[in-house]
Amino acid sequence: MKKIKWGIIGCGGIADRRTLPGMMLAENAVPVAVMDANLALAERVKEKYDASYAFDSYEAVLALDEIDAVYIASPVFAHKEQALAAAKAKKHILLEKPLGLTLADSLEIIEACEAAGVKLGVGLMMRYHAYHQAIKEIIAAGKIGEIVSMRAQFTCWYPKIENAWRQDKTLSGGGALMDMGIHCIDLLQYISGLNAVECTGYAHNQTFGYSADDSSAVIMKMENGALAFVDSNFNIPDAAAKCPLEFYGTKGSIIATGTLGQEEAGKVEILTAGDDSGYDAQQQRSLVKAEELTVTFGNMYTKEIEAFSNAILNDTEPPVSGKNTILVQRIIDAIYTNGGGKL
Ligand SMILES: NC(=O)c1ccc[n+]([C@@H]2O[C@H](COP(=O)([O-])OP(=O)(O)OC[C@H]3O[C@@H](n4cnc5c(N)ncnc54)[C@H](O)[C@@H]3O)[C@@H](O)[C@H]2O)c1
Repeated sequence: MKKIKWGIIGCGGIADRRTLPGMMLAENAVPVAVMDANLALAERVKEKYDASYAFDSYEAVLALDEIDAVYIASPVFAHKEQALAAAKAKKHILLEKPLGLTLADSLEIIEACEAAGVKLGVGLMMRYHAYHQAIKEIIAAGKIGEIVSMRAQFTCWYPKIENAWRQDKTLSGGGALMDMGIHCIDLLQYISGLNAVECTGYAHNQTFGYSADDSSAVIMKMENGALAFVDSNFNIPDAAAKCPLEFYGTKGSIIATGTLGQEEAGKVEILTAGDDSGYDAQQQRSLVKAEELTVTFGNMYTKEIEAFSNAILNDTEPPVSGKNTILVQRIIDAIYTNGGGKL
């Protein structure tokens, strides 16, 4: 099978911890060049993943004819400059979330890729989680009826750290909402198949005093009238977080815990109410059926890289593209700039 030759721009946390190990398991991809602002890190990563080149300039990666695509996993403030340059160099781009610091930057990146005729994928890899795929199918099959309510909560403990780019809103574009809530908003829309039409919410710093939000809550009104709740925080201890993902419909619910994260894991329970749709005046909450959903876990990053590489090989739209995820950025932008609004 032909393998897409990748250049990696930004070899820090996520690239080294997850995406490169995922790429090594992909059938149709191989890392060829790696770049980081820290050259010593790039050299180490080159050795670790058996790449051919290590650089501290992204232009050097883009100058290599043999590179088909770049995975950009630099801090958010560098995304736009690097993505625009990659598009100009006719390299396909898998860009980590969020696309840009602002909605305007994200739209500019999408337009530049379209104008250059290169594909643009977004690192919202949680769509590939086996449980999320299975839940999507169950909802589409109508098993829990019409969706009326949904919730996703994704949190971590992230105290103040000197010079952490993520904690400085000018460098990250935002905090808990931009960094973690982005996955929740995307998953609720993707899994339910419903787009948000309005949103309202808060994003502020309550605990740590840095400029990015450490606390956020968003309510979305979906196109069918359902309400969806997203809460993302940097100030809840990891040990205290269950990271629930919940879908409620007119016939039942699907409750996932521990599926939001960087590894395929967690537990999913489906509760259905049977056929009796009458009102229970006694309010005895006896469920007819509770079942645990089982799936075979894989590696979300391998699936992400394989899907994007296949889109290049087959000349098709990447399944998680800039275009089909821009509504997520629109929602976040609306919360940050006006506390919400019509979308
Ligand atoms: N999808 C996911 O699972 C996931 C998880 C974490 C982070 N991310 C995203 O990945 C991106 C990187 O986050 P991270 O946690 O890996 O950050 P990080 O700070 O751990 O790593 C960033 C790396 O980029 C390097 N760098 C700094 N400036 C650079 C520049 N101008 N050009 C190239 N490299 C530069 C740093 O030296 C560092 O090695 C962000 O967009 C983040 O939102 C995605």
